[in-house]
Amino acid sequence: MLTQAPKGTKDILPSEIHKWHYIEKEIAQICSDYGYKEIRIPVFEHTELFQRGVGDTSDIVQKEMYTFSDKGGRSITLRPEGTAGVARSYIENGMSSLPQPVKLYYNITAYRYENVQKGRYREFHQFGVEAFGSYGPSIDVEIISMVKLLFDRLGINQVRLNINSIGCPACRAEYNKKLKDYLRPNLENMCPTCKTRFEKNPLRIIDCKEQGCKKITAGAPALIDHLCEECKNHFEGLKAGLDNIGIEYSVDKNIVRGLDYYTKTVFEFVSDSIGAQGTVCGGGRYDGLIEECGGKPTPGIGFAIGIERLLMVMENQGIEIPQPKGIDIFIAAIGEKAHKYAEKKVYELRKESLSAEKDLMGKSLKAQMKYADKLQAKYCIVLGDEEIDSGKAVLKNMKTGEEKEISLDTIIDRLKM
Ligand code: HAM
Repeated sequence: MLTQAPKGTKDILPSEIHKWHYIEKEIAQICSDYGYKEIRIPVFEHTELFQRGVGDTSDIVQKEMYTFSDKGGRSITLRPEGTAGVARSYIENGMSSLPQPVKLYYNITAYRYENVQKGRYREFHQFGVEAFGSYGPSIDVEIISMVKLLFDRLGINQVRLNINSIGCPACRAEYNKKLKDYLRPNLENMCPTCKTRFEKNPLRIIDCKEQGCKKITAGAPALIDHLCEECKNHFEGLKAGLDNIGIEYSVDKNIVRGLDYYTKTVFEFVSDSIGAQGTVCGGGRYDGLIEECGGKPTPGIGFAIGIERLLMVMENQGIEIPQPKGIDIFIAAIGEKAHKYAEKKVYELRKESLSAEKDLMGKSLKAQMKYADKLQAKYCIVLGDEEIDSGKAVLKNMKTGEEKEISLDTIIDRLKM
């Protein structure tokens, strides 16, 4: 136990961290291009926020939250996602008085007590975006185009965009009646979860993965065919906007999403190449969330991309992420005097923002040179008594093998050339 991370968690090791840095850099760039500012929210919130925000009937709230009482007796939950926390922050920090829309992004860890499998973990990473204040559909188009452009920039082409509309509370209430009428004769044959969903949130039954339920819902009426006039126009506007900027999509009537806050636009970017957990990005509009959490009625829309799944898609597609560059120089030293000199020199080099290393293990010269190779040093010098006394040493270009005698005082200038 002591030497094993909890199930569903994973270390991100130094050997792979460059991939994360690369993606985070692309994320920061695209958010800057689109005018989204970073927000950092707490890892835990009051449990009630997720019960109200994500919704009592969602799997997340019913089965997957990491909830505990803190020492003050408060019920606390590790964030299972970012939207509810960002909405809470929008209200708490009076962001409704800022120029709207307020456009925010975050890179977070999230926690769900899930059945662990490929692409599904208990601690995972999300890049998410939330935009508050605009009813759309122009901002819906902006948000979706942002995901598409990020994928393009990362070289990802094996994902499909599926969109749908799940309407507003008004048309959904009407639709729910029709759906329940359709499902009622088969209620007994549905899975236990769907039986409880039947009264509370029948729309979620459409999303059930159980074969028996899938059969029952196969011919069920779809919400998209029963939208009210406003929601219909909104969806038409979204499609026209995507067409206008040349983004391909399919309408998937079965997307309902697993969180209760969604209204109107919902969308997913899906990959077929990474197994059953193929949804790389999920998002949609949540026009009732801010009010549900205690704020003034404010529309909102956003998405989150699972970084682990994003990396899986990239790997599957054979996309090469640039390897980190090696260090600028390794100073090999023979003897105590040379070691002391090297100690001072690497500090001077580092002060100039050059990456410099020396031996710290008492290695032989041969082992030091081997280590310099491992560190992918661009240059190397070997120091002994003679070099220190003369103030000169041989600077070796480790790639070309070229050697040049230089004055030790000029190393910094040489490396900065
Ligand atoms: P979600 O669909 O629950 O939506 O999660 C978004 C993405 O996070 C998924 O598409 C997937 O890539 C990743 N993800 C979810 N659960 C796991 C897991 N257990 N292991 C690994 N990756 C996972 C949300 O979280 C919404 N807050 C998205 C949103 C933002 N909607 C509006 N704004």
